[in-house]
Amino acid sequence: MCKELGPPEALVIEERSVPEPRAGEVRIAVRAAGVNYVDGLIAAGRYQIRIEPPFVPGSELAGVVDAVGEGVTGVGVGDRVFATLGTGAFSEYVTVRASQVIALPDGLDFARAASFQQSYCTALFALVHRTTVHPDDVVLVLGAGGGVGLAAIDVARSLGARVIGVASTAEKRALATAMGAEAVIDPATEDLKTRARELGGGGVDVVYDPVGGELAEQALRALRFDGRFLVVGFTAGIPRVALNLVLLNNRTVVGVEWGGWAMRNAEANGALLDDVLDRIGRGDLHPVAPEQRPLEGAGSAVADLIERRAHGKIVLVP
Ligand SMILES: NC(=O)c1ccc[n+]([C@@H]2O[C@H](COP(=O)([O-])OP(=O)(O)OC[C@H]3O[C@@H](n4cnc5c(N)ncnc54)[C@H](OP(=O)(O)O)[C@@H]3O)[C@@H](O)[C@H]2O)c1
Repeated sequence: MCKELGPPEALVIEERSVPEPRAGEVRIAVRAAGVNYVDGLIAAGRYQIRIEPPFVPGSELAGVVDAVGEGVTGVGVGDRVFATLGTGAFSEYVTVRASQVIALPDGLDFARAASFQQSYCTALFALVHRTTVHPDDVVLVLGAGGGVGLAAIDVARSLGARVIGVASTAEKRALATAMGAEAVIDPATEDLKTRARELGGGGVDVVYDPVGGELAEQALRALRFDGRFLVVGFTAGIPRVALNLVLLNNRTVVGVEWGGWAMRNAEANGALLDDVLDRIGRGDLHPVAPEQRPLEGAGSAVADLIERRAHGKIVLVP
């Protein structure tokens, strides 16, 4: 529970009675809940949408339907499902509108199903809908060992692009390489702009930036003519850059707000998710197997993301 907005250490465990589904709702026995950076932002009151406590954090889950409310059709007890919510996933049982749940496809286990949706929908939305990635384009992915970064590598590779990853530890860089990055950069020991230009053969075509901070400008400067810079997140802070860097080389800076777009375009987002699932089903995309931790470790899992210790994805298992 988040009882007051603040750091992950302020999250507390609370025992409650099992919720009953209301008309049109189903109850899910949660088998895995994905941990995302955004959960920490929401609990701290630092996300663009402010939610007032008390609330249960957690925005992605997978599990088994174990009760249905009045009037529910199409979903039944025993169905294996996954769902994305604003909050509430870090729990043993969750009630959600039946229209929010999606049947788990064969081949996707609970852990992956609870942790791919935000990262992969954001990556496909950014790299296919917000810009175009051509085969052999060079895509520079910042935060490449994090959840959003790994998904971006996977999607960019599936589009035929070459990928260069940027990450701060050997462990994160190894994950980026395993996902298909042909080269990785450690920005603490190498000049990001110079090295990315070298590796990209004079520059890169696309920057995918969930990190911001000081690296953003260096990455922007690495873009070659007609390059596109995708603004995805600010784990290292919101950068300020001079617009002459956008004019130079005919560059384009593109904002990516998958969550806001999805809320306004539910049908199109449904098609986007179907597209992600099809690509996973065909073997074109490969969500990582997340690290599994007990639900009681929610606070430390969120802290590991916010404080940069996590690599890959984490799920909480009740
Ligand atoms: N725009 C959208 O639609 C959208 C959708 C989903 C998520 N997001 C955003 O994408 C970002 C990444 O989310 P995520 O779930 O992938 O998080 P994550 O798994 O924790 O990865 C974020 C990466 O940011 C890097 N980082 C650099 N400086 C950091 C700092 N001071 N503190 C923490 N991390 C730092 C870390 O990589 P290094 O240590 O290698 O630098 C880390 O691996 C978040 O800001 C999230 O809100 C945006």
